[in-house]
Amino acid sequence: MEETDKNNQVVDSSRRGARIARRIALLTAGGDAPGMNAAIRAVVRTASGAGLEVLGAQRGFEGLIYGNFEPLPNRSVSNIIQHGGTILETSRTPEFSTEAGRTRSAENLRYRGVRGLIVMGGDGSLAAARAFANDTGMRVMFIPATIDNDVPSTDYSIGFDTAVNTALEAIDRIRDTAFASDRLFFVEVMGRDSGFIALSVAIGGGAEIVIVPEIPFDLDEMCRRIEDSQLRGKRSSIIVVSEGPRTGGAISIANAITERLGMQSRVVVLGHIQRGGAPTARDRMLASRMGAAAVRALIDERPSSLIGESGGRIVEVAFDEVATEPHPFDPALIDLVHLLAV
Ligand code: F6P
Repeated sequence: MEETDKNNQVVDSSRRGARIARRIALLTAGGDAPGMNAAIRAVVRTASGAGLEVLGAQRGFEGLIYGNFEPLPNRSVSNIIQHGGTILETSRTPEFSTEAGRTRSAENLRYRGVRGLIVMGGDGSLAAARAFANDTGMRVMFIPATIDNDVPSTDYSIGFDTAVNTALEAIDRIRDTAFASDRLFFVEVMGRDSGFIALSVAIGGGAEIVIVPEIPFDLDEMCRRIEDSQLRGKRSSIIVVSEGPRTGGAISIANAITERLGMQSRVVVLGHIQRGGAPTARDRMLASRMGAAAVRALIDERPSSLIGESGGRIVEVAFDEVATEPHPFDPALIDLVHLLAV
């Protein structure tokens, strides 16, 4: 039902929000992702347009626990849309996994008159945001921002597109030298538990093989593929490997394969290069849409939710309806890597 004021005029949701919650807080948690700054800007500008003040918690959940906040007026987010990292800084904070840490955080927020919280981060931060909303009754909106793209109930997370493009740029350069010197290159990309970056980079970079955490590594099959490609006349190859214990990482895989085949190879570990740099247009767009939607959801007093993207649309998924697993990994895309590498 529409709400009306004392003159019987319909109250728009932004004015209603201004009365109910004059202050909201915002934090970025876990690994930073390019585009977080664009989302911070969108939150601050949308909130300010609706007459809300925004407090930024410093260094993720740590800022909530220790009461480290800074006001974020409109001008504080000028000239940040194009920068990677996060002006609020971030951390991985074990204290927040305790009920005592969460209770103290809620007290810190209530003491400052904060009625709603926006959390940006990956799957670990989502779990923390949900526990916080459950334990304290505080309204929380979660914005998925992780280069790994492994947050449930959203097709895309902020930062993924930039990380893939950064890794691709590196692969294009590696391909130049690999081709010139007939070499086998192993390129390690980020994604400890998730092969989304590796798969996109392998397809976009024209790699011969991709090794991801979701699919067990088979040394015999890899060696056969490399030998087959050499028989077909290929003298240089690129193999993309997701980092982490589940694949073993590019160095150990390179050692195993080159020892077995008695050939030379080189390893390039891209590491945190993929987490920095200017966000792509796609990530800026996603961040701006999600940031604005999160503020509107707080103003409209929606239940605590994940703000996701589904089929190109921004959606709200209430915390108790968030899926338990990220969107499915498509094994057909691994076949596509092989199909196109002939
Ligand atoms: O944020 C995700 C991620 O970049 C993963 O891809 C990677 O495995 C991990 O974080 C690295 O974490 P840290 O920066 O703490 O070493």
